Amino acid sequence: MNVLVIGSGAREHALCRSLSLDPAVTALHCAPGNAGIAEVAELHRVDALDGEAVAALAVELGAELVVVGPEAPLVAGVADAVRAAGILVFGPSKAAAQLEGSKAFAKDVMAAAGVPTSRSYVCTTPEEVAEALDAFGAPYVVKDDGLAAGKGVVVTDDLETAVAHAAGCDRVVIEEFLDGPEVSLFAITDGVSVVPLQPAQDFKRALDGDEGPNTGGMGAYSPLPWADPKLVEEVLETVLQPTVDEMRHRGTPFSGLLYAGLAITSRGVRVIEFNARFGDPETQVVLARLKTPLAGVLKAAATGDLADLPDLRWSDEAAVTVVIASHNYPGAPRTGDPITGLAEVAAEDAPHAYVLHAGTKYAGEDRGTVVSAGGRVLTVTATGTDLTEARERAYKAVGRIGLDGSQHRRDIAAKAAADA
Ligand code: AMP
Ligand code: GLY
Repeated sequence: MNVLVIGSGAREHALCRSLSLDPAVTALHCAPGNAGIAEVAELHRVDALDGEAVAALAVELGAELVVVGPEAPLVAGVADAVRAAGILVFGPSKAAAQLEGSKAFAKDVMAAAGVPTSRSYVCTTPEEVAEALDAFGAPYVVKDDGLAAGKGVVVTDDLETAVAHAAGCDRVVIEEFLDGPEVSLFAITDGVSVVPLQPAQDFKRALDGDEGPNTGGMGAYSPLPWADPKLVEEVLETVLQPTVDEMRHRGTPFSGLLYAGLAITSRGVRVIEFNARFGDPETQVVLARLKTPLAGVLKAAATGDLADLPDLRWSDEAAVTVVIASHNYPGAPRTGDPITGLAEVAAEDAPHAYVLHAGTKYAGEDRGTVVSAGGRVLTVTATGTDLTEARERAYKAVGRIGLDGSQHRRDIAAKAAADA
């Protein structure tokens, strides 16, 4: 199979790594990609938000399957353009990607499908905002309705901060605060059948102890030793299948990856958000544990044949991933700093630990130096017999990486490993 992956983050590196290990994949392309992906796939230039350009590239490369990684191209309709060119695509249509593209739309779908989520108001005026904040009280949860790359949500005890965030958005969703641990559960779907993957936990805040601002995610682990063994089955029945059914009944079937961000509250499981794509960095740990070759799974979702797919096979091992971010992330990050230690990790820590690139690029034509090119720069992923061993391996490899001014959390999976 000739596969083209669209995107340039660590999620796309994880996808490309798994695809490159799949014997069914005979040619692997990525656009635009990054310095790490260049080691496993052939890179091409493309404007990932331009559906016609992506479709033309897929035709030119003879791609049989296009995998769209990030949300922005999906919300822009890139999957529709590729499908219109007669090429299989893993990723929802523009209409279906609204599940992630608009928080108000997602709430509407959940209400219609009877999916448990927090109570919420959609507000467009300062008066509505004030009323909604007052109705729920602190802690306040204020969400920009549209896509905001993980930075649209403010959770705060401070009323002024909540009001100020709402004032900066055209339309906001204000909702009830959900307490309890968060779980990311991904499911592959062809619009009818739903195949859940293994659950993972992400660390959204920038600093140790869940302090600091929200980020796109600073680390993740899987499995979740503390979770109810029936969690996946319950979420499939109460969240994933009803949502996929509702989308199909609306005439906008959702195919691709449905990501449920969940809070396990004292009153039961609640959906915090849906995403229309693999999560980053959770994908790194979920794919590290998936033994079934990936290409056939993604293709079955694209062709509508998921019902015929044999059960997925999973490794019993644990996986941990730690994000190395640039100086000042999640604010305007500093870029262009050289990264050292990549060869040492490859020589000393593989295959149990390995680096997946996010915001990186080659400094010169000779590919001699890799430099930072974004907020989240690298993720270091490791596997082990349990979370303790996976953590040790991940942090040992993190210690070999040099990047001036970089930051990473030191407590990824620490509590889960200690409690297991
Ligand atoms: P979202 O983009 O909707 O996933 O929100 C980003 C993060 O904000 C989530 O992962 C949670 O940590 C937090 N968050 C969002 N909604 C709520 C809520 N209703 N209650 C508590 N925390 C929330
Ligand atoms: N890790 C959170 C996300 O991918 O949205």
